[in-house]
Amino acid sequence: MIHGSAVVTGASAGIGTAYARRLAQRGHHVVLVARREERLRALADELGLGAEVLVADLARPEGVAIVAERLARPDVGLLVNNAGISGYGPLAEADPAVLAAVLQVNAVAPTLLTRAALPGMIERGGGAIVNVASLLAFSGSLPPGPLPHRATYAGTKAHVVVFSRVLAGELQGTGVRVQVCCPGRTATEFHAVQGADPLHVVPGDLAQEPAEMSAEDVVTASLVALDRGEVVCIPGLDDPTALERLTAVEAELRRGSRRELAQRYRG
Ligand SMILES: NC(=O)c1ccc[n+]([C@@H]2O[C@H](COP(=O)([O-])OP(=O)(O)OC[C@H]3O[C@@H](n4cnc5c(N)ncnc54)[C@H](OP(=O)(O)O)[C@@H]3O)[C@@H](O)[C@H]2O)c1
Repeated sequence: MIHGSAVVTGASAGIGTAYARRLAQRGHHVVLVARREERLRALADELGLGAEVLVADLARPEGVAIVAERLARPDVGLLVNNAGISGYGPLAEADPAVLAAVLQVNAVAPTLLTRAALPGMIERGGGAIVNVASLLAFSGSLPPGPLPHRATYAGTKAHVVVFSRVLAGELQGTGVRVQVCCPGRTATEFHAVQGADPLHVVPGDLAQEPAEMSAEDVVTASLVALDRGEVVCIPGLDDPTALERLTAVEAELRRGSRRELAQRYRG
């Protein structure tokens, strides 16, 4: 069981709001992070118990610094790096500023916020980091359809998966847990076209696909997995041996690669 304050990024909507509600029910003091202050304040009012609001834009270094400062305080027991944006679109046409924001919000911010939270957790001998990635982290072998134009997004989520798995090994024996949660398509506003904000715009065919899992179910899976100490949580996956096979294939790739040039690359 994790104790202490829970800092949840992207708490103003979707999966983040669901984490915040559930963690407050579990008795955590929650710190709600996002850009839309009114939404955070409404959620804080609903949760009561002195829920804290921290307005920060994680696409900007100043925003990351505000949250990092809060994470360094000794009451923090749990960090949920949930904020994320899609930036879907053909890479050759994408606005470089949008791509930079996707990398910053989805990969740089969770990495730096984890860095900010860890020293205190290690010193106190306990705590947990939950990073929300996506099933698309495992989509490298998928053909372009039905989810085209996701290279940058999927790349950031693959970073979160490998970062979390490697870090979990690094933290063994410290009492600090790491989990990466990889939801499939979830019923939130993530896929909706939101006004003129290019970071939220996705192709129409994607926006019309049926939603699959509720944000509440994603959070249920994540918290059960956290209590069990599972590092990789895939909320809709019934057969966890697929993860064991993934680990086995990774080991095979590493073991199979020798120091000499492979025969198949020799003239
Ligand atoms: N929905 C899905 O199908 C799905 C599937 C797999 C993984 N995921 C992942 O799950 C996580 C949550 O997604 P969701 O579906 O709940 O999306 P959502 O409903 O669109 O919520 C995204 C949250 O991220 C926050 N956010 C976005 N940009 C931010 C920024 N620059 N600074 C601070 N906060 C920012 C938003 O708050 P503000 O706009 O108020 O800042 C909002 O609270 C994301 O990491 C996403 O990649 C979603």
